[in-house]
Amino acid sequence: MKLTRRTFLGSVAATLALPRAGLAAVAELRPAPANLQILPSDYPTTDVWGYGGMPGPEIRLPQGARLDRRLVNGLDQPTTIHWHGLRLPNAMDGVAGMTQDSVAPGGTFDYGFDLKDAGTYWYHPHDRSYEQVGRGLAGALIVTEADAPEVDRDEALVLQDWRMQPDGTMVEDFGALHDMAHAGRIGNYVTANGQSYIERDLPLHGRLRLRLINAAASRVMQIVHAGFTGWTVAEDGHPLETPAALPEMLVLGPGQRMDLIVDVSATGDETAYLGLVEGDSAAVLYEVTPSEAERDAARAAPAPLPPNPLPPLGDLSKARATEVRIEGGAMGRMTAARADGVEMPMQDLVQQGLVWALNGAAGVPDTPIATVSPGETLRMPLINDTAWPHVMHLHGHPFRVIEGDRPGGPWRDSVLVMPGDRTEIAFVAEEPGDWMFHCHMLDHSASGMMHWVKVR
Ligand code: C2O
Ligand code: CU
Repeated sequence: MKLTRRTFLGSVAATLALPRAGLAAVAELRPAPANLQILPSDYPTTDVWGYGGMPGPEIRLPQGARLDRRLVNGLDQPTTIHWHGLRLPNAMDGVAGMTQDSVAPGGTFDYGFDLKDAGTYWYHPHDRSYEQVGRGLAGALIVTEADAPEVDRDEALVLQDWRMQPDGTMVEDFGALHDMAHAGRIGNYVTANGQSYIERDLPLHGRLRLRLINAAASRVMQIVHAGFTGWTVAEDGHPLETPAALPEMLVLGPGQRMDLIVDVSATGDETAYLGLVEGDSAAVLYEVTPSEAERDAARAAPAPLPPNPLPPLGDLSKARATEVRIEGGAMGRMTAARADGVEMPMQDLVQQGLVWALNGAAGVPDTPIATVSPGETLRMPLINDTAWPHVMHLHGHPFRVIEGDRPGGPWRDSVLVMPGDRTEIAFVAEEPGDWMFHCHMLDHSASGMMHWVKVR
């Protein structure tokens, strides 16, 4: 039976475990195959993997609250849920084979932890994520500030990238070595919250908070805008010290987020929009038609968001440093690397699907890239000796890009490092445990760019 989007959503709502009076029932997240309208409505529906709808249900909780979700695996392969960008106990981090055993088909796992930081985060599987995220498994996780800025509308846009055929089928070429050795498996169609674009009505000078989440497996999103006066107020969930005027183009690597506050300034027949750059044109992702109702005046720039309670970096000139060399890929210079502790020439690595390395190790090595004690600050100069951009992501520990001995940007959890660049980050170790450090182009992490930091 072919389900329409509406009846599909209806039937899913009925299967959600809703809390019943007197019972401490835990809400469920159930990844499972689904058939949904992904291409525009005049195209056929698509077989995807989702946590109910597409994207997964938005989780929105106040800062300081506890998040409790039971993963019920409805897939025919093991999975986990990783809570991207959050500071949490290591056992709740959701990394298959590192912080927990992967959850078998039909199995369950209970996640529960306190939300220390406000901001825009997301959740996704951390087992075969190049395929599981690529097939659609991702959802927004919004932690609201007690003292949030006043806006007319606050919404998350989960951006997903699909490799589709015009008949609505997904191209099922996950894990192809050619993609992995280049920019990753980039699709040919991008959705915002599962739709080709989103339309809203708002008065002139109406104010929006838009939380952009790049949930693509590998595509770097380049977004242009018109008809808005706006500011960037947070990156990867964490507030900028001062809201910055919107740059002409917003660039979001896979896994990265950006909170915008935008005021509608379009008038007459114009609309205000965000558009995804594709070649030399832009496709509308989010469009606002100014309505008749008019606010009387343009508004002042928003105040900065309240900072999150992160431990300070301290005196960076005294901090230890671990250099990270990023090597490999097509057109790279890597000739050998260690895999499973054995030094191997490139052609043997390729046999195992490994084409990238971090500090000479391809795949998850037995020993961490660094061992740090709680409270200690570690600097990590990231040296991209490849022909490709990478988005380096550290679990459980927000970091700052540093310039010399000072912070050069806000706290964040993923940083885009361009070919040939050296970008230095620093973080303060907190919760003990093994924390992944990898490229968030999920085809790259699956083919070697996967390491870890030990906090002990
Ligand atoms: Cu968003 Cu290790 O992942
Ligand atoms: Cu990469």
